[in-house]
Amino acid sequence: MSLRTRVDLIVHSATQLLTLEGGPQRGTDFGRLGLIADGAVAISDGMILAAGPSKDVRGRYVAAHELDASGKVVLPGFVDAHTHLVWAGDRAAEFEQRLAGATYMEILAAGGGILSTLRETRAASEDALLHSTRARLRRMAEHGTTTAEAKTGYGLDLETELRMLRVIRRLQEEGPIKIIPTFLGAHAVPPEFVGDPGEYTTFLVNEALPAVRDWWVLNAGTDPLPFTDVFCEEGAFAPEQARRILQRSSELGFPLKIHAEEFSSFGAARLAVEMGAVSADHLNRIQAADIAALGRSSTVAVLLPATPFGLADPTYAPAQALIEAGAIVALGSDLNPGTAWCENLQFVMALACRAMRLTPAQAVAAATINAAAAVGCSDHVGSLEPGKDADFVLLEVEDYRHIAYRFGGNLAAAVYRQGKRISPG
Ligand code: NIG
Ligand code: FE
Repeated sequence: MSLRTRVDLIVHSATQLLTLEGGPQRGTDFGRLGLIADGAVAISDGMILAAGPSKDVRGRYVAAHELDASGKVVLPGFVDAHTHLVWAGDRAAEFEQRLAGATYMEILAAGGGILSTLRETRAASEDALLHSTRARLRRMAEHGTTTAEAKTGYGLDLETELRMLRVIRRLQEEGPIKIIPTFLGAHAVPPEFVGDPGEYTTFLVNEALPAVRDWWVLNAGTDPLPFTDVFCEEGAFAPEQARRILQRSSELGFPLKIHAEEFSSFGAARLAVEMGAVSADHLNRIQAADIAALGRSSTVAVLLPATPFGLADPTYAPAQALIEAGAIVALGSDLNPGTAWCENLQFVMALACRAMRLTPAQAVAAATINAAAAVGCSDHVGSLEPGKDADFVLLEVEDYRHIAYRFGGNLAAAVYRQGKRISPG
């Protein structure tokens, strides 16, 4: 008679199992992988029951299904902490203009950029948006992403912003990956308010934010409210406007994020800390005082190296200074049609190691447990620990460093979300 507990699935014999156990990582702790040689994970009802050496796990559990991971790395599913997932159309022509010398903010000021995607998104039906967004989610899942944040922000009127939220809701239900929504009504100043960001801010504060909250409560019941986010930037929203929007969001119960110091140094990261934001994102041009403020705070520094890469801009975020200051550093793709159409977090990790000098272990922590903290989900995803969702990736390599060492391809042999294989589908 076996005294072993029966479970749904055991993944065993992983050459390297990376658990990332123990919560978000900062300072000298950053890059702690929880590496187990010949590791196994026991799973029931989509949740992890145990992770440890194969011998121990198989001694305690017996499974209906077994998955042999010999010759492979097994690690938590990647968490993409920052995406502009929902949009219509593309901006290939602007990419060419930028290569010829036009800047991103010049194109926006001339009514292109975000505003060009806004026109296409307003004109797109809900089903058309669902269709193109679903294809992007599928490619993200193929590359190992099992949780992704997803922003609105290409409607900038109530009707289209709510259409984007409906698309996100439908994809939350459909899968294959977990989606954390963000309302980015403050992405740009829309044509109706051109030249008057103050007036548009008043519209967001008085009308849009309460309407989004009411819509969410009516349609999503007890699901947690989305984040709100502001593009705090010269030519978008000034710090005083960002403060008004975040203040009101906070009063309405929304958790907060900020696009900070992507092109300007506005001190938006410090504002994020002051407002208790969950994350401050981009930070390419963050100054010393703001680095220190983030380092002392629990606001996660979300770095998006695919964006300067996508813009052929040599200014990457000062990751080393942020790490030294003690900040919780996470990674995201910034997936969007303007600056970074990138669905592959493996590439983002490879870039983070080269352009910002993260170690491969730090890149893995930044794209798993720390990214989970950046989207408020580190209790559920981001590591392989008992009680968490069984979200994991099998890599077709024996050494996790290959994720960063190789680049441009896909090392994911199989991807699981809540114990079910989502890729290959
Ligand atoms: O994070 N900076 C603002 N938002 C995006 C770009 C969005 C777009 O260009 O469509 C970013 O880089
Ligand atoms: Fe962004």
